[in-house]
Amino acid sequence: MSQQDMFKKLIAHAKEYGFIFPSSDIYDGMGAVYDYGPYGVELKNNIRTYWWHFMTRLHENIVGIDSAIFMHPAVWKASGHTDAFNDPLIDNKDSKKRYRADQLIEEYIEKQEGKIDKEVKKAAKRFGDSFDKDMFLKTNPRVLKIKEKVDEVHQRYLKALDENNLGELRQIILDCEIADPISGTRNWTDVRQFNLMFSTQLGSVSEEANTIYLRPETAQGIFVNFLNVQKTARMKIPFGIAQTGKAFRNEIVARQFIFRMREFEQMEMQYFVKPGEELKWFEYWKEKRMQWHLSLVADQDKLRYHDHDKLAHYANAATDIEFEFPMGFREVEGIHSRTDFDLLRHQEFSGKKMQYYDPETGESYVPYVIETSIGLDRMFLLILSYAYREEKVPNAEGKPEDRVVLKIPPALAPVQAAILPLVKKDGLPEIAREIFDLLNLDVYCQYDEKDSIGRRYRRQDAIGTPYCITTDQQTLEDRTVTLRDRDSMEQIRVKIEELPGILKEKVSMRKLLQSFI
Ligand code: GAP
Repeated sequence: MSQQDMFKKLIAHAKEYGFIFPSSDIYDGMGAVYDYGPYGVELKNNIRTYWWHFMTRLHENIVGIDSAIFMHPAVWKASGHTDAFNDPLIDNKDSKKRYRADQLIEEYIEKQEGKIDKEVKKAAKRFGDSFDKDMFLKTNPRVLKIKEKVDEVHQRYLKALDENNLGELRQIILDCEIADPISGTRNWTDVRQFNLMFSTQLGSVSEEANTIYLRPETAQGIFVNFLNVQKTARMKIPFGIAQTGKAFRNEIVARQFIFRMREFEQMEMQYFVKPGEELKWFEYWKEKRMQWHLSLVADQDKLRYHDHDKLAHYANAATDIEFEFPMGFREVEGIHSRTDFDLLRHQEFSGKKMQYYDPETGESYVPYVIETSIGLDRMFLLILSYAYREEKVPNAEGKPEDRVVLKIPPALAPVQAAILPLVKKDGLPEIAREIFDLLNLDVYCQYDEKDSIGRRYRRQDAIGTPYCITTDQQTLEDRTVTLRDRDSMEQIRVKIEELPGILKEKVSMRKLLQSFI
């Protein structure tokens, strides 16, 4: 199955099993806006909690806030969003579709690099054990030709972005013969800048002065509260402020399901450090955040860093953590060393000092900031796409049967244990209910007595429930149940009284968090 087919199936599965619905579904949905269903909201909450506990419980010097979505318009002037939070857009005159010029070029570069990978794979197959990849990359004429072209385009692209040269971006698209995927033509308009912030009016008078914005990032709520938090929580540098919440961007090219949305949620942390120490802390957070991802994704090859070639004018280091989504490696989190840019700008625009007084040295300074910024919805997509498997497994009679299973880390699973009476009679539902009441306050449980046990197992597999507990005739005799493991499908017999302890060990977030201590 191709990755694209897999992605389509995943999207259908997410809808069918109550994870994600298109927004306003009965009106045929809305582009790039989605609603989370009963299982989706549980998974999303669990991811958010895991991030929050990682930040605030494992780091005594990180505290949280929850700032408002609406902020004073001057905030966005100071941050640079009003003037420069733009995407370069280009339209195809035949399909009338709009694209991000930078993405068209990046996709072109990615495609060319894909060609090199293909050449490598072909040669590795041909030469077997004697294949020397480095030598091949340095000497193969076809590879060298592609590489030369990619490097040239890449250099031109970076320069054009740096100089905000929209004409040159268009020229690169023409020179690379990039065609519209829908019309197939190269009939492009000029490239124009488009601001991504959604605006609305405060109060009833629609004048420029009353225009306010839906925040495009949660970070500014942290910056403007820097002194409030530092003073009230008596924080000493280095310290961090964490926040999760909605952000809004008028993404023009919003594709790929919940990867790029117009309304989404961010989980951001700003770490305030002494100037001069920022690169040390940048490395620290780069490493820490990768460890967090690896605690959920066992397959290391699925994650990688992508250091930025082109740094924003306020940054002195930046990297993305990328995950191999069905559509290829894409950013899931950004780690940025933002210098003192934001605090200085707010100092300038508000007229309020944004300095920290260091009681040990007697110095006052504007701190530097390391930011970790991850999209919760994107992390959700990561978990879902990594978890989705189609397998052939033996059914009750030992015959092969298809199953779709979500191998979600147990601590994040929407339902952590399903309680299933083998049959709907003979006192089995009653004892199953007793188990439900015993467990449900600690471990999120679902009780299900409808359909055959095989079908119920498949239903739980499809929503990623890591454990199924089944009551049967023997339960009535010796108060034992079967405990079925989602991934291995193995069943063991355990005493009812042992279940709370066993499940706590297997599904609690504590275990994940403890691995960092
Ligand atoms: N404060 C820094 C900041 O907002 P960003 O790279 O623009 O940086 C950070 O966004 C993260 O937010 C991204 O790595 C991504 O996970 C998520 N994100 C950004 N735009 C998004 C969108 N349109 N839909 C879903 N997630 C998005």
